[in-house]
Amino acid sequence: MKRISSISICLLFIALSVFAQTKTSKDEEKFINNLLRRMTLEEKLGQMNQTHFNTTVDSMCMKVRNSGLGSLLNINPKFVNQIQRTAVEESRLGIPLIIGRDVIHGYKTIFPIPLGQAASFNPQVPENGARVAATESRQQGITWTFAPMLDISRDPRWGRIAESLGEDPYLAGVMGTSMVRGFQGKSLKDNNAMAACVKHFVGYGAAEGGRDYNSTNIPARLLRNVYLPPFQKAIEAGAATVMTSFNDNDGIPSSGSDFLLRTVLRNEWKFDGFVVSDWESMSEMMKHGYAQDKKDVAHISLKAGMDMEMVSETYVDYIKELMSEKKVSMKDVDNAVRNILRIKYRLGLFENPYIDEKAVSTIYAPEHLQKARQAAVESAVLLKNEKNILPLKPTTKIAVIGPMADAAHEQLGTWSFDGDKNKTVTPLKALLTEYSNISYVYEPGLTYSRDKNTNFEKAIAAANSADVAVVFVGEEAILSGEAHSLSNINLIGQQSELLKAIKSTGKPIIMVVIAGRPLTIERDLPNADAVLYNFHPGTMGGLAIMDLLFGKENPSGKLPLTFVREVGQIPMYYNHNNTGRPAQEWMQPIDEIPLEAPQTSLGNTSFYLDSGKNPLYPFGFGLSYSKFEYANLQLSTTEMAITGSLIAKATIKNASDVDGYEVVQLYVRDLVGSIARPVKELKGFQKIFLKAGESKTVEFNLKASELAFYGRDMVKKTEPGEFKIWIARNSADNGLESNFIVK
Ligand code: GLC
Repeated sequence: MKRISSISICLLFIALSVFAQTKTSKDEEKFINNLLRRMTLEEKLGQMNQTHFNTTVDSMCMKVRNSGLGSLLNINPKFVNQIQRTAVEESRLGIPLIIGRDVIHGYKTIFPIPLGQAASFNPQVPENGARVAATESRQQGITWTFAPMLDISRDPRWGRIAESLGEDPYLAGVMGTSMVRGFQGKSLKDNNAMAACVKHFVGYGAAEGGRDYNSTNIPARLLRNVYLPPFQKAIEAGAATVMTSFNDNDGIPSSGSDFLLRTVLRNEWKFDGFVVSDWESMSEMMKHGYAQDKKDVAHISLKAGMDMEMVSETYVDYIKELMSEKKVSMKDVDNAVRNILRIKYRLGLFENPYIDEKAVSTIYAPEHLQKARQAAVESAVLLKNEKNILPLKPTTKIAVIGPMADAAHEQLGTWSFDGDKNKTVTPLKALLTEYSNISYVYEPGLTYSRDKNTNFEKAIAAANSADVAVVFVGEEAILSGEAHSLSNINLIGQQSELLKAIKSTGKPIIMVVIAGRPLTIERDLPNADAVLYNFHPGTMGGLAIMDLLFGKENPSGKLPLTFVREVGQIPMYYNHNNTGRPAQEWMQPIDEIPLEAPQTSLGNTSFYLDSGKNPLYPFGFGLSYSKFEYANLQLSTTEMAITGSLIAKATIKNASDVDGYEVVQLYVRDLVGSIARPVKELKGFQKIFLKAGESKTVEFNLKASELAFYGRDMVKKTEPGEFKIWIARNSADNGLESNFIVK
């Protein structure tokens, strides 16, 4: 018998899978169009309507029975089956509801806030977190989460920076697609999958002044080169839905932007899921002064490409009238409904709409808690470790001080809707359980982060009775997240004063920060020998912190955004343009400026007289208990064709006696372009494990296409010219530098 070559077997396999996919999408479209044909206009508008659970179950069931609803958000899971049964068994066409919820960084098992997960620089961390969240949520009938949030933010005054994946488009793209994979799994039909929703489309993180909901003024080129890329990556990864943002950009609210929703999302990115507004972001176009009235809101939104309306109900109230006035067409409505039905179909809701109430609950499953603990370990960033005071020996007696040492609710961070604070393992609780071998004394000194108390006698006495003081400071959960912007991001209340008071004892101090944003902690650094920074680390954060303080784990987190010295330095980020007057290295402290100094004597360059030109800590920074050495940067070529690639490699050595992980980062700079280009851009990172004394060669394959950007002509392409390249510890490390040319 003629041997079938392996090539033909592969070709057959490819053909079959293409046929299968085509068949699936053909079945899908056939099902959707058959259903659409049978729907009345009222039923179609019902599908485009999402409301929140704001009434009794019976009145909600009546609304559903009359097909006035396509989706519910944030309802109590115990009512899901009852309401879903009404939709499926009592409405005319039995179209199931899609139940949405803000499962942002965990349903019951709460992971670190997304900013913390980004600090892990390990895509498996957000993927695990999303997988655990989807597993726990789908069982409760929640089939749609309003995450991941992919807003690039360069402003820590903005409370929602807590939900973001930091300041860098590359990192946010990698972490965001990991979350999409984690939420959606291999198939949306799986009983542990849920539809992701990439938000807030787009530019919300650039709110002027860092004040939430404020206008943004992002020019088209910057939008293309910085704010849109993470969304494009997530759509390419199969994100099922998109949520529009509250902000107007250059005067146009996203919820009414046909450029965003049709030109970019549909025409360029070929997105085939559905778009949902943010909470009343459609009707808010009246407040923006962009829509005359609710009827205008419905008209603008539908023409722009908005499929589903969250809460404001202008579609069900006005589309029929707009249709009679020929301002919108049935085609417009059908397109929106088709997109919604497609995701419901892919979720398997038509075949399997109900919760299996007999299923064994996976909530707080041991493996979920273990993954949350590992995530918290990898999300912590060691910022300072004078004289290697950390890790502590288990024989060290510690004084546990500060308002965040036993803050079960606060530790869960913002958007931990369903997290149970009684399940939170705080640092103190860790000492009462797994770390009960550690000798400690506990005196908080302050009872919550805003506490104005100034009597620290007991805390001082506790410090005096111990070998080392571990002072837990930071922010209550309510101080970050939506609508929670701050104009002052110092440690709030009397926390800095508490640190100072403990410093007066002369004891070594470990400052452990638990917060929702990068705080301006420069003034506190003299009062701490070591600083471990945690972005609200979630349910298992206390154990993770003890793992790190006592050396069971070695810190590996890196900053996903810049830490400024002063709030006045904002916005400050690593991937900035060089300007025509980049500041010099030296900076004369303001108090040393001579009296009557001549006008130009300090150099006319871009810096602050009082805080210089550098941040407190740069993007990508993080210390370890290990000591990593970088050497021997080599390029496979110094001339790359415009369609080519090159290999950049370096040797990384763990020159210590402590095993550890290191995040090796690849940066490039396009020296001259049709527009000014950033002084550095992250193009790759690898988190590697090195045993004590071990060396590894780390290789990056950099493609010319990864250097592409929207230039002067607004066409995305790689431009020939000279580039610098670094393999580095962080964005400020220029140690291993080389050059190459793109021809
Ligand atoms: C909120 C948020 C959005 C959230 C939605 C539903 O206002 O902006 O991120 O998913 O409403 O709760």
